[in-house]
Amino acid sequence: MNLKALVKGTVVFAATMLVATAVSAQTFRVAIGDAAGGTQHELGKAFAANLEELTNGAAKADLFPNSQLGDETDTVNDAAMGLLDFSILAINNVTPFSPSVGILTLPYVIQSPEDAKKLTLGEVGQELTENTIRDAGVRIIGWSYSGFRVLTNSKRPVQTLDDLKGMVIRVPRNEIMIATYNAWGINPTPLAWTETFTALQQKVVDGQDNPYITVSAMKFDEVQKYITNIRYIFSLEPLIVSEAIFQQQSPEMQEAILEAGRRATEHSYAFLAESEDRIKQELMDAGMEIYEPANEEKEWIEAATTKVWPQFYDSVGGKERLDAILASLGR
Ligand code: MLT
Repeated sequence: MNLKALVKGTVVFAATMLVATAVSAQTFRVAIGDAAGGTQHELGKAFAANLEELTNGAAKADLFPNSQLGDETDTVNDAAMGLLDFSILAINNVTPFSPSVGILTLPYVIQSPEDAKKLTLGEVGQELTENTIRDAGVRIIGWSYSGFRVLTNSKRPVQTLDDLKGMVIRVPRNEIMIATYNAWGINPTPLAWTETFTALQQKVVDGQDNPYITVSAMKFDEVQKYITNIRYIFSLEPLIVSEAIFQQQSPEMQEAILEAGRRATEHSYAFLAESEDRIKQELMDAGMEIYEPANEEKEWIEAATTKVWPQFYDSVGGKERLDAILASLGR
């Protein structure tokens, strides 16, 4: 074959491959619980961009923010059954399916973004990933770091546990969070995430807790006035993939998915550091008032740790396990 014919043949082959890739590009659906603009969406965007780049366009990820594909808890079931590819949701909404994940929502265990990164990317995160595959049929392949959940309400400034009395506070359907508010002296109202904005707007509930960036993305500032800067749970929001769908992929596609998840996780950590203060300021500019909890150590922290932790030792792997994790965090 002469050179001209060879070049022509190569061009035709490359063009055919491009068309084939374009035609057969695999498109995954990614459910996202929060509205666009939050940390979940940021993780999703970074994941989609990296997946497309790593597979040279052979795989794409379509993002569906604002719970378009169902409430966060429902997306875990759907992914487990292979009806949904990916979901990004708060870890507290995974806990009901895989209780050991609760170690990440026990109040005041994680005290900084560094603690959060150390646990999620270290041996603890690896173990929890294996547990969620076993218990829930989903695999954690990335994390968004969303900041501490702060308490918001529409009634009055809250600084002490006395101020909290009589308030109707929405929580996810998460036993640990319910127990924490019980320890603080009130009975919270468990409510699905998709129902939360309306419940706040119609004053069915007075308040809720979520990170600053989530409060902003969900436009809670339109229906909430007061923020209490409690730091009881550092919000972690994993990117999960249906284990059944993951196992159907080629080894190359699996590696691309995992690598895109790792890169998106790094991006999320940087996004939090660069945006949280700005968004907090925007919430204040929009009229929200921020209060520090009074007597935090003696009131908020002591009640939550002494009354709540012992109730969940068994589900998180035992007291020794918790002690070992605390020691690994230098406490
Ligand atoms: C919840 O409160 O249910 C979740 O934290 C919501 C979220 O995913 O941001």
